[in-house]
Amino acid sequence: MAEPAIKTEEPATRTQTTLDRSWNEICELGLQKHVAELDAYGYTIVPPEIANPNNLAERLLDKCLDIAERRNGERPDLENGSTHVNLEGTEVGMRYVGHTYHPHGPLGDVFHSLLLEDEVFQEALMNPVRLALVTHLLGYNAVMSSMGCWMKGSGSTTLALHADNSLPSPLPPHAIGCQTTYWLTDYTRENGSTAVVPGSHKWCRQPHGEEKIVPEKPGDRGNQQAIPLEGKAGSLLIHHSNLWHGAYNRTAPGVRVSLTNYMLRHFMRTTENYIDKIPQEVLDRHPPRFAILTQQGVKVGGSNPEETEHRVETAEKYLAAYAKEIGEGYRPVEQ
Ligand SMILES: [Fe+2]
Repeated sequence: MAEPAIKTEEPATRTQTTLDRSWNEICELGLQKHVAELDAYGYTIVPPEIANPNNLAERLLDKCLDIAERRNGERPDLENGSTHVNLEGTEVGMRYVGHTYHPHGPLGDVFHSLLLEDEVFQEALMNPVRLALVTHLLGYNAVMSSMGCWMKGSGSTTLALHADNSLPSPLPPHAIGCQTTYWLTDYTRENGSTAVVPGSHKWCRQPHGEEKIVPEKPGDRGNQQAIPLEGKAGSLLIHHSNLWHGAYNRTAPGVRVSLTNYMLRHFMRTTENYIDKIPQEVLDRHPPRFAILTQQGVKVGGSNPEETEHRVETAEKYLAAYAKEIGEGYRPVEQ
């Protein structure tokens, strides 16, 4: 492993904290530039040569196409997009009802709950580069909220700018969540890429009125500070939960495919529930952090004393194993 570019003080001079551990992981993986971008702009794009070990994105794409074919009864036409033109969202795939009112849906076909569909999705969750940046934003006890695939064909509707933070304004300045998105096909403006307002994570509020509109082209009505995020398939986009983001409509033929893995601080309600739902053999295949990421360390009470006791005992077992993995020499700090 490469020597860290910036080292923290040696343990002999002071007690090392989990913050030191997180920073050292970032240095060992060479991610300092991406941390600086996250803090300055609210987002960063990690290129495929760093974010895509062992052709992870290609394998995710293959599996997503298989699942789409199985769930929808037809294999997506990635090249020409015939299966996804002006798609409003299907009953099978697009279940987020609040997003389906657009006549030419800006999201396309969306299917969630992928974690247990195949080991490749668990690999995406555990990607060390992704985890190092998630830890920087959310700390070591972050949990996953959802994992979904988005397949968007050409259409006329942009996705309005918003922050993925469902709290009332003012939003807290620190991230309570972060979106991580594997780009499984190339992202360009014509391909319907993500739109962001750089630096908006510092404003600590949702956009209002015209601020929410993604202009279809420069000079059109809408937020003039919105820009398209572009990059090659295999890139990984990570952004702060306060960042204003949306999407351009796809004007080129074909289908834009991405895999999102939304992460939250451990006290937030998640979209998908994995508490006590991960098969033991899956937990056994992974290091202790996997159990924490998949919510096994969350002490949500049951509806009777026995359930509550079981949950607290189980959570403490996984938290203790994880504390051992992190290292007992580290002093926990609030991150
Ligand atoms: Fe969002």
